Amino acid sequence: MSEKKQQVSRRQFLNYTLTGVGGFMAAGMLAPMVRFAIDPALQPQSKGDFKAVAQVDEITNEPQRFDWTIDQTDAWYESEVTKSAWVYKQEDGSILALSPVCKHLGCVVSWQGNSDYPEQFFCPCHDGRYYKSGENVEGTPPPVGLDIYEHKIEDGTLYLGKAKPREGA
Ligand code: FES
Repeated sequence: MSEKKQQVSRRQFLNYTLTGVGGFMAAGMLAPMVRFAIDPALQPQSKGDFKAVAQVDEITNEPQRFDWTIDQTDAWYESEVTKSAWVYKQEDGSILALSPVCKHLGCVVSWQGNSDYPEQFFCPCHDGRYYKSGENVEGTPPPVGLDIYEHKIEDGTLYLGKAKPREGA
């Protein structure tokens, strides 16, 4: 009787051991995957989405390129990323900040980048062109106009937020 009891006990021991080890291994594999999937979503959105980019009085009617850096977090990877915008004062005095990222395949556009097309943004990759307003020139590769940065002005400083596609794009 005590021998039978010992056999059952040994079987139970093996069951417990295998279940425990298996569960531990499964948890060890699943936990990082689950965390990877949901962790960024659980992070609080940065309130500081707007960054100081320029003093308003240095912004002219001619598009100028301004660069700034942001801290970017992709899952656990943190890095410093340089952002750019073409910024100018429109005729009504309002400020327009355009993304320099071409809407064709993502090259960087520059103001008056091609002397054949003055007063336009030019993308050297496939000769994409945009008017000063950032609208794409029909017949060139970009299908839509340049994205526009959200902006706000505080104490004479221009702050830029996220670049967003223009309406209808
Ligand atoms: S990437 Fe700009 S025209 Fe193609």
